[in-house]
Amino acid sequence: MLDLADVQGVVLRGYAMPHARHLLLQVDSPSAGRRLLGSLVDGSPGRPQVTTGAPWTEKPECCLNLSVTAGGLRALGVSEESLATFPGEFTAGAVARAERVGDVGPSAPARWLPVFRDPGLHLVVSLFGRTPEAVDRAADRLLAGTAPGVRELCRLDAALLAGRVDHFGYVDGISQPTVDGAPPPGPPDRLPVAPAGAFLLGHPSQFPGHTYPVPQPEALGRNGSFAAFRVLAQDVDAFAELLATQSRRTGADPELVAAWLCGRWRTGVPLALSPDTGSPDPPLPPDALNDFGYAGDPRGERCPIGSHVRRMNPRDSRVAGGGGHRHRIVRRGLTYGPPYDPAHPRDGQERGLLGLFIGVSLRDQFEFVMREWATDGLFAPGLGRSQDPFLGAGGTLPLATPGGGRTALTDLPRLVTTRGGAYCFVPGLPAIAHLAGR
Ligand code: HEM
Repeated sequence: MLDLADVQGVVLRGYAMPHARHLLLQVDSPSAGRRLLGSLVDGSPGRPQVTTGAPWTEKPECCLNLSVTAGGLRALGVSEESLATFPGEFTAGAVARAERVGDVGPSAPARWLPVFRDPGLHLVVSLFGRTPEAVDRAADRLLAGTAPGVRELCRLDAALLAGRVDHFGYVDGISQPTVDGAPPPGPPDRLPVAPAGAFLLGHPSQFPGHTYPVPQPEALGRNGSFAAFRVLAQDVDAFAELLATQSRRTGADPELVAAWLCGRWRTGVPLALSPDTGSPDPPLPPDALNDFGYAGDPRGERCPIGSHVRRMNPRDSRVAGGGGHRHRIVRRGLTYGPPYDPAHPRDGQERGLLGLFIGVSLRDQFEFVMREWATDGLFAPGLGRSQDPFLGAGGTLPLATPGGGRTALTDLPRLVTTRGGAYCFVPGLPAIAHLAGR
């Protein structure tokens, strides 16, 4: 049985909050760090408290969650013996694992925001609020009561754009895994419900007969999870040019080109359900937006096999290893930077998506999808060495034509560049108290 009050809310439930701030903190004094953690779970008056997975009676104005890097565990006084029981990819960290997930060239750590190369990046405190003021208030209350031995390195703000779109103009935040024992995430899909152990340590996982080892001591590991914190810059000028160029080359409407790249029209309507229009008449009910599979479309004639959503969640498609639904990820990202104004292109502003990509195993979820599905096409027929149109380095998007033919969009540019990454442990509530020495 899952005790939702023991689990950080960010793992199991979408807060549907339109504003976020991530405070990146360094712990210089273990005792100050422990005091900070303790104050987030002990009901201290005036201190924001960690939001759990337990249902709300009233939606708060701001939610708070805490993630800790391996360096952070060390800085809080966790022993090397205990750290050795954590998975190797977590203790190695995002910089060391960059090449595996395609963070090379312009996405290489050498080009990241310096804070993500700083070994002093210990804690990520994520605030999710209804308004920017609610986030400000929570951040002020948090930092005002924090002892000098904990220092803010940097803050990263993000927000929902009007229409719930990302900077490329796609409605985002539709598909999330349904987790056994957790609140329903939004529009349902047809996949088997994910076991809690796909996202939380100490429960049977998505691989039959396998439970991921709980880092020790048990009080620290149980009901924890792992997250890749990512800052991903989007090149919206390149995206706009790509739509225009490919539309000229193929004769397809630019909106159809956009739908091929993503697997959903920019309206959020999946190609799998509506291959000809992003605005079907009558409209798809919101609950139907995630209710589809690809089994009836093995060649990708409706939805390209190489499109972003089909790569990131192949659902019932045939994929190498047969594990199409065993690598699911909870996404908690929002956009950063100003909205793109097509009337004023090339404004020199950085914009993109930032947030947490969560799973019980960084290796088998975040790293797996980035390495096997995003940056190497060989997992499914017809993809060659192509890469994810959003997450890869550019190249081609293979397309199947009716009647058994194949064509491709070619000369795709790189659209997304990694600006930072951090591998974090997302401890359960008792584990935060344990780290605080309570
Ligand atoms: C700037 C970078 C990215 C952009 C612009 C982007 C865009 C999108 C969009 C528009 C959707 C469709 C909306 C939805 O189904 O909720 C989507 C879905 C998804 N994305 Fe991304 N994404 C980005 C990065 C990533 C990364 C880094 C990962 C994984 C590590 C990822 C994994 C997924 C998954 C799992 C889905 C849901 C697929 C499904 O269940 O059908 N995305 N993304």
